[in-house]
Amino acid sequence: MRETTLHRTTIVLAALFVVVAVVFGVLRNTINPPRSEQGRQALLGAELFREKGCSDCHAAESTRTKVGPGLKGLFDREKLPVSGRPVSEENVRKQLKDPYENMPSFAESLTEQEKDRIIAYLKTL
Ligand code: HEC
Repeated sequence: MRETTLHRTTIVLAALFVVVAVVFGVLRNTINPPRSEQGRQALLGAELFREKGCSDCHAAESTRTKVGPGLKGLFDREKLPVSGRPVSEENVRKQLKDPYENMPSFAESLTEQEKDRIIAYLKTL
C-alpha cells in the first residue's frame, strides 16, 4: 500500500515536471523565437551592410540607383544589375573582391565570413 502511494507520487511529480518543462519551452519560444542559423547570419549581414558603407551607395528596399544599383530582390533576378552576370553567390563575391567598374573593392576590408553574412542578408532583400 505504502509502496503504491510512493509510486503514484513519483509518477505525478514526473508528469508535473514534464508539463512545466513543456510550458516553459513554449513560453520561451513565443517570447524569443529561435532563429535559423541562416537568419542569424543575415541579421549580422544587415549590420555589416550599414557599417561597411554598402548602404551609402545602395538602397536595400528599392531598385533605384543611389550611387550603385538598388539591391532589392537581387537574388530573385536572373542577372546582376550592372555587369549583367548571372546572379550567384560566386558573382556577388567576385564583385566585392574585384568590382566590375567603379565600386570600391572590399578585398581588404571584409573577411570571408563577413562576405558570407552580407550575401546571406542580400538573399533576404
Ligand atoms: C562608393 C559606392 C559603393 C559602395 C560603398 C558599395 N558599392 Fe556596390 N556598387 C557601386 C557601383 C557604382 C556599382 C556598379 C558596378 C560597378 O561600378 O562595379 C555597384 C554594384 C554592386 C552590385 C551589382 C554588381 C553587378 O555585377 O551588377 C552589387 C551586388 C553590389 N554593388 C554590392 C555591394 C555591397 C554588398 C557593398 C558593401 C560591402 C557595396 N556594394 C558597396 C557602388 C558602391
